[in-house]
Amino acid sequence: MQNSKDFTHLQEVILSFFQKTPPAEKLREYVSGYNKLMAYYKCAMMEIETKLNVLNEQFSLQYDRNPINSIKTRLKSPDSIKNKLTGRNLPVTLASIEENLHDVAGVRVVCTFPQDVYTIKNALLAQDDITLLEEKDYIKNPKPNGYRSLHLIISVPIFLLHEKRFMKVEIQLRTIAMDSWASLEHQLKYKKDVEFTEEMSQNLLLCAQMSAELDARMDFLRNCVGEKENI
Ligand code: GTP
Ligand code: MG
Repeated sequence: MQNSKDFTHLQEVILSFFQKTPPAEKLREYVSGYNKLMAYYKCAMMEIETKLNVLNEQFSLQYDRNPINSIKTRLKSPDSIKNKLTGRNLPVTLASIEENLHDVAGVRVVCTFPQDVYTIKNALLAQDDITLLEEKDYIKNPKPNGYRSLHLIISVPIFLLHEKRFMKVEIQLRTIAMDSWASLEHQLKYKKDVEFTEEMSQNLLLCAQMSAELDARMDFLRNCVGEKENI
């Protein structure tokens, strides 16, 4: 009985929605809201990229070398956003995107040496407008497949004409060696027509261990030549 009452109410709501608001107009409103939200995420990525470039510049002036090798930014595609939300049975709305997705704005920072990853992380998190929401250290605790990187979810304010808005950004920090392993692994895994055998996984893990050893030796060498870097 209660269900049929609910259903009638739902029908009334839907009917009044279509009577009051033409679907095309509603759609336009939604698209414009989506584009605005994506523009805010883009601004947040720009803020973070600038902060990282400033740190790189200052480090370079002080120590005569760059701790950051490259920075890449990416905005999650509409398809990936929709798939991630529906995959978790979450509503596909703007509010849900902001609340549930932490990686709409992604910044990947490729550092020179392992120690640089932590130097950059600490310098960034020491800034008083950045709030750390989540940290996953896959360098200290690599994933079972060998993946290494330091993942941070932070919140950063963007200053608009009449408001200040806090946006989430996912920052992945890794070394050149970690980045090349992750890029190759991604390419191998995404060839979906090839079955990934246990032997292939073992080889991939071995490559990750070799890459970790390369990083450790490089950090040793950096320590030998960079005693001045007292940070
Ligand atoms: P999702 O954000 O839904 O992926 O889940 P999560 O938050 O638990 O994932 P996590 O923070 O561990 O990883 C998020 C991102 O890190 C991915 O989108 C990839 O860019 C990268 N990543 C994580 N694991 C791997 C891996 O095994 N190989 C590669 N190449 N990249 C990885
Ligand atoms: Mg994630």
